[in-house]
Amino acid sequence: MKPHSGTTVINVSSRPMEKSGKQIVMSGIRPTGILHLGNYFGALKNYLRMQDEYECYFMIADLHSLTTHPDTNELRKNVLHVISEYLACGLDPEKVALYCQSSIYQTSELYFYLNTLAYKGELEKTTTFKDKARLQPQNINAALLTYPVLMTADILLHRALYVPVGKDQEQHLEMARNFAARFNHRYAEVFPEPVAFNFGQELVKVPSLDGTGKMSKSENQNATLYLSDSDELIRKKIMKAKTDEGPKAPGTPKPDYIENLFQLVRLTGAEDVYNKFEADYSNCNIRYGDMKKQLAEEMIRFMAPIREKAEAIRNDEKYLAEVLEKGAFKARRSAEATMQLVRQSIGIKYF
Ligand code: TYM
Repeated sequence: MKPHSGTTVINVSSRPMEKSGKQIVMSGIRPTGILHLGNYFGALKNYLRMQDEYECYFMIADLHSLTTHPDTNELRKNVLHVISEYLACGLDPEKVALYCQSSIYQTSELYFYLNTLAYKGELEKTTTFKDKARLQPQNINAALLTYPVLMTADILLHRALYVPVGKDQEQHLEMARNFAARFNHRYAEVFPEPVAFNFGQELVKVPSLDGTGKMSKSENQNATLYLSDSDELIRKKIMKAKTDEGPKAPGTPKPDYIENLFQLVRLTGAEDVYNKFEADYSNCNIRYGDMKKQLAEEMIRFMAPIREKAEAIRNDEKYLAEVLEKGAFKARRSAEATMQLVRQSIGIKYF
């Protein structure tokens, strides 16, 4: 498609917030349940590292949650849960904008414009759409189909370049780049093409403890470690993880469920522990009971302080409301600056 004849040349550098000279980062987590280790290692850990160097927008994707969780009885509780865990993990509301997706009204406007650039066929082919449609055949709503378009609106609203996410969001980011490129081509060069981000490494997929699939907010809860799990529950879940009798000959490849346990040890950052059990595996004298005990203690070491801090913050609703309002104010300002460029470039601003 050719740019329409009324295309205005937009000076992208005119965006006031970019005067900070920092690259823009945006990401979010749905409040569909409580946060787990997949959310932590796939997303939050990167948020924490990025908050000092980048201009960051981190939100709670409450609109997205309506596509799969139309019953909103638990929504408020879950939103407070997520924001308290964001803060307990160390996100600093003085440095980053923390807000709810629904507080940024410009999201719906950009979502509409982007919907005109997205095609039914490509949306129907999205893996997450096909998975969710299988899980909820009675509720294949239009917003489920256009889920990646709303996600693109969240990102492009701030003209973000980097999007810290886990492996499962890779396809959505590819679609976001396509939608951004189509907009730029059709109207004017407004948007950077955003990329999924994980500090110098492959995107992370945190496996579930039962050796099948990934940790998830609502599926296989006994095989998922939640940030709010007690020490005892963490031990219990890890000790139940599937193992076997160990390798019988040097060079035996690790089965998936064993590889997963090693991956979890690696994620805790306990390199000495990882190296010890790697060596034990190679020498065929690994004791999985010991490995799981050690893994549980490493997990508790970093999860317990987050849980305790989140519990302490969670009841201070006045503070949480202030944090979300401050973040929404900053995010709306950034969104409105982008939307002025968007409206102008589409030609929807008549006077
Ligand atoms: P959600 O809520 O499913 O997941 C939030 C973040 O956690 C990551 N994640 C994982 N990473 C590794 N291993 C796992 N087992 C695991 N489970 C979850 C996800 O990759 C994600 O980074 N569509 C998004 C929410 C969203 C968003 C956005 C993200 C809405 N708008 C804009 C980025 C930018 C989602 O469903 O996340």
